[in-house]
Amino acid sequence: MRIYKASSYDEMSRKAAHVISALVTLKPDCVLGLATGSSPIGTYKQLIKWYQDGDLDFSQVKTANLDEYKGLTKENDQSYYYFMVHNFFKDININMNNTNIPDGTNPDTAAECARYDQAIADLGGVDLQLLGLGRNGHIGFNEPGDAFAKGTHCIDLQPSTIDANKRFFASIDDVPKQAYTMGIKTIMQARKILLVASGEDKAQALFDSVNGPITPRVPGSILQLHPDVTIVADMAALSRFTDL
Ligand code: GLP
Repeated sequence: MRIYKASSYDEMSRKAAHVISALVTLKPDCVLGLATGSSPIGTYKQLIKWYQDGDLDFSQVKTANLDEYKGLTKENDQSYYYFMVHNFFKDININMNNTNIPDGTNPDTAAECARYDQAIADLGGVDLQLLGLGRNGHIGFNEPGDAFAKGTHCIDLQPSTIDANKRFFASIDDVPKQAYTMGIKTIMQARKILLVASGEDKAQALFDSVNGPITPRVPGSILQLHPDVTIVADMAALSRFTDL
């Protein structure tokens, strides 16, 4: 694991955007695994700026998002589809036919999970997976549990995750209780992983993911077994590390 220290959220975002930008430049038809949440927003903003400056071209890029709330439509402003369009896709020259996000409105869980796994397989897998980190160590929506889930699955969100994400909804009762998420196996099959983390509330989860035992109780800890992980984090998120 390579860990890059950033002095601020903006610096973290720029450094992370550099990693993605390098891939898009070297492999214009790459497959980007994308994430939602507040952590990657600055990264997307920087990539949009470089696109607007004429330095990046997304016309051949393909994407696969990590997760989506179950039950939310694309038009719902809290869906991850809406998030991706409004925080990234609408401002770059990506072909929307090349973007993939689990369909939160598909009530047939087994069919949706199989469809999404097949979609990722059809892309030839993910070249670079961007990840945030949940306060409880979750990646995508792979919540702490007794085992690592493999492929795309539907998960019951933990109370702590519902609480962390309630800030985006009118009330905690509006936060969906379930989500579709790529599984740990899919994430681990990405050829490269880029994790961004900022803020004190990620410090313990980040420390445990990098230094703790590899356990499904801290889903991010599985990343220790991946051969190509880059972590970009600010000082607050790295505050439990004494040797950096
Ligand atoms: C959300 C998402 C994750 C994200 C995490 C952290 O629930 N499903 O993919 O990485 O929680 O979010 P944030 O970056 O807003 O702290």
